[in-house]
Amino acid sequence: MSAKLIKGTEIREQILEEITAEVAEIKEKHGVVPGLVTILVGENPASISYVTLKIKTAHRVGFHEIQDSQPVDLSEEALLGLIDKYNKDDAIHGILVQLPLPKHVDEKKVLNAIDPDKDVDGFHPVNVGRLMIGGDEVKFPPCTPAGIQEMIVRAGVETKGAEVVVVGRSNIVGKPIANMMLQKGVGANSTVTIVHTGTKDLASHCQRADILIVAAGVPGLVKPEWIKPGACVIDVGVNRIGEKISEKTGKKIAILSGDVDFDAAKEIAGWITPVPGGVGPMTITMLMKNTLKSLKFKLGIA
Ligand code: GUN
Repeated sequence: MSAKLIKGTEIREQILEEITAEVAEIKEKHGVVPGLVTILVGENPASISYVTLKIKTAHRVGFHEIQDSQPVDLSEEALLGLIDKYNKDDAIHGILVQLPLPKHVDEKKVLNAIDPDKDVDGFHPVNVGRLMIGGDEVKFPPCTPAGIQEMIVRAGVETKGAEVVVVGRSNIVGKPIANMMLQKGVGANSTVTIVHTGTKDLASHCQRADILIVAAGVPGLVKPEWIKPGACVIDVGVNRIGEKISEKTGKKIAILSGDVDFDAAKEIAGWITPVPGGVGPMTITMLMKNTLKSLKFKLGIA
């Protein structure tokens, strides 16, 4: 293996320690801790496990945390009412509605109802606009792109003037990370290309990339010959390709694969993120960072 592994699990521990220390300091000085509510509608098993981990992490770093679990048939009106309640709650600084929502609920309407100043997911159009403007305007960068940028910076990868190619154009990863990498500033200032299912020659674009960020949701999409020797490869794909029995717990767990052929790519890349244990752990970590930031904005110390 020639590539350096960028381990999200290790970076997560560093950042969570930083957050825990800051929360304790704010509590002592200002007598308040960040408050996070997660709203889960229904019983989607993947959503339950994500939300449980978010709340567990919030508890670990010293936040006031609420998991608000609602039945699958909760009406849209009732959900909007809940959001209104948390928008007005002074002890809550971050509101997260776990996606996907049941089909009878208009996702856009729900996300738009969250107070942009408590939108720690960064999905509200106001925060999407702030991200587009960049600089001081940005309040809550969306968590997965923020995690990706943090990994690139902490790994010491040069971004200024780098060719960044983003594979995928989702609102949650592809579009925002492309936007973040082209802004002026630390961990950015790159030349960015977004490629997608409509792109004619994926391989030739990827081959130019000093930093290749892949968020396509297609297992093994990126072939080793698409990777420039020495490039930094960030694999955002989390694809369930089967099941196995966990040696630790004896329970059935998913076998996960990224969007990159990891075993071959690690011999060519300069840096690479594994799946699992790469980008995945960073998303919840950055949610904690955004929630802390929300309180700091409110206290005027951000
Ligand atoms: N479902 C899967 N990922 C996410 C996320 O980052 N935020 C929310 N709200 N829902 C999700």
